[in-house]
Amino acid sequence: MSEPLLGGQQPSVPGVYDCLLGGKDHFAADRAFAEDLVQRVPRVVQMAQANRTFLRRAVRHAVSLGFHQFLDLGSGLPSGQNVHEIVGGMVGQRERVGVVYVDRDPVVAVHGRAYLETSEWVRVVQRDFTDPEAVLADHTVRGVVDFDQPVVLVFASVLHFVGGCAAGLVRAYLEASRAGGAVIISHVQRPDTVDDDHIGELESRYQEVMGTGTARTRTEILDLFNCALGTRLVEPGLVNVEDWRPDRTEDGAGDNPLPFLAGMGIFGRRDG
Ligand SMILES: C[S@@+](CC[C@H](N)C(=O)[O-])C[C@H]1O[C@@H](n2cnc3c(N)ncnc32)[C@H](O)[C@@H]1O
Repeated sequence: MSEPLLGGQQPSVPGVYDCLLGGKDHFAADRAFAEDLVQRVPRVVQMAQANRTFLRRAVRHAVSLGFHQFLDLGSGLPSGQNVHEIVGGMVGQRERVGVVYVDRDPVVAVHGRAYLETSEWVRVVQRDFTDPEAVLADHTVRGVVDFDQPVVLVFASVLHFVGGCAAGLVRAYLEASRAGGAVIISHVQRPDTVDDDHIGELESRYQEVMGTGTARTRTEILDLFNCALGTRLVEPGLVNVEDWRPDRTEDGAGDNPLPFLAGMGIFGRRDG
């Protein structure tokens, strides 16, 4: 099979993640990095899959709570059951819905536009989400998401690619969502705070090869929800990614939990 035209020399975060999920939209360099990672961190495939299934459950739960607009920050390459497909399958035709996928990666943007923009209420925007002013002022974002209505901010497996004050970044999006909404977060836990001999290598390999990767403690991950701003975690709170409202067919984390936490917060309308 010939290689696609874009990218290919260096592994990319979305390409490696796609490979770990068993997707087909990655390059040889992504595959090589992912295969090496699996040798060093045997549960990394399970982590990627657990995160993606958490994301689907969280989106379903958000829709069941009445939320119809989603800003998916660091959305990654299209995968099975993307956010707009879940939303579209659950929301009635007459409801106003909107999903914007935001990712800085050019391959994600090209694939996303081709495969995800199936209706006028679904758009893919190529932007760096660490610049919330630019994302929130983006013409396409504004055209799809009505910030006078509640919006769900999705940060699934992305904030560990943000160093420094990631809580401040989330706060900027929360404050701009004046009509209230929900925030979905999943995040890798710091190696020295979990019982997993290999997780340290996950962080160090991403740092060495891609210059990014910041696992955090449970307290630091909890801070990302900005509860001081009034965000209230829905049950079961911040828990292991496999234990967040597992479907009846899923087992949950058991006694060897993955070093990966997840939760959903609800925040209210902000006046003034
Ligand atoms: C591990 S993937 C997660 C994809 C998806 N959120 C999920 O959970 O299935 C991380 C994604 O975040 C994107 N990303 C990382 N940092 C970003 C940034 N500063 N701005 C926009 N996208 C970013 C990467 O390009 C990649 O597609």
